[in-house]
Amino acid sequence: MPAHEMQGSSHMRCGASSRRKGTIMLNEKLNVLLADWAVAHRKLQNLHWYVKGHAFFQAHVKLEEFYDEANEAVDSVAELILMNGGKPLASMKEYLDASNVVERESDFISVNDAMTQAKADYELILADVKAVKDAADEEGNALVSAAMDDHIAQLSKHLWMLGQSER
Ligand SMILES: [Fe+2]
Repeated sequence: MPAHEMQGSSHMRCGASSRRKGTIMLNEKLNVLLADWAVAHRKLQNLHWYVKGHAFFQAHVKLEEFYDEANEAVDSVAELILMNGGKPLASMKEYLDASNVVERESDFISVNDAMTQAKADYELILADVKAVKDAADEEGNALVSAAMDDHIAQLSKHLWMLGQSER
């Protein structure tokens, strides 16, 4: 094979391997997001059970919507990782190790504090969603990038509503 063709093919191999590395890094970021949603799901149900106070009825119902949605996000992010050729984290221990969202104790909490907690966690998750979107755009991965737009729209709406409900 002529020298210039060999150079060309090794350049292509190099491009393919950096794409593979990019996909691995994207899947790692998706696994952090998966862990965030998994811990957020547990925590939002914790808040649904333990919330207490004058606006209990509204908060109890809203938190149920939130944890149902978090559970759906867990499944959709895991399936994105699988479509991307990766392996989604699937154990509680791995979620706790990888997540930026931190669990809370099993104890009563005021409506105001519960909503403040949910808002802080959604802010953390939104930052991770944006990191996934940036990595997906760098890789030219339109599937993951478009999926992150849905998370951004959903989280931004919750953050706006939770901001409106603050005293
Ligand atoms: Fe319930």
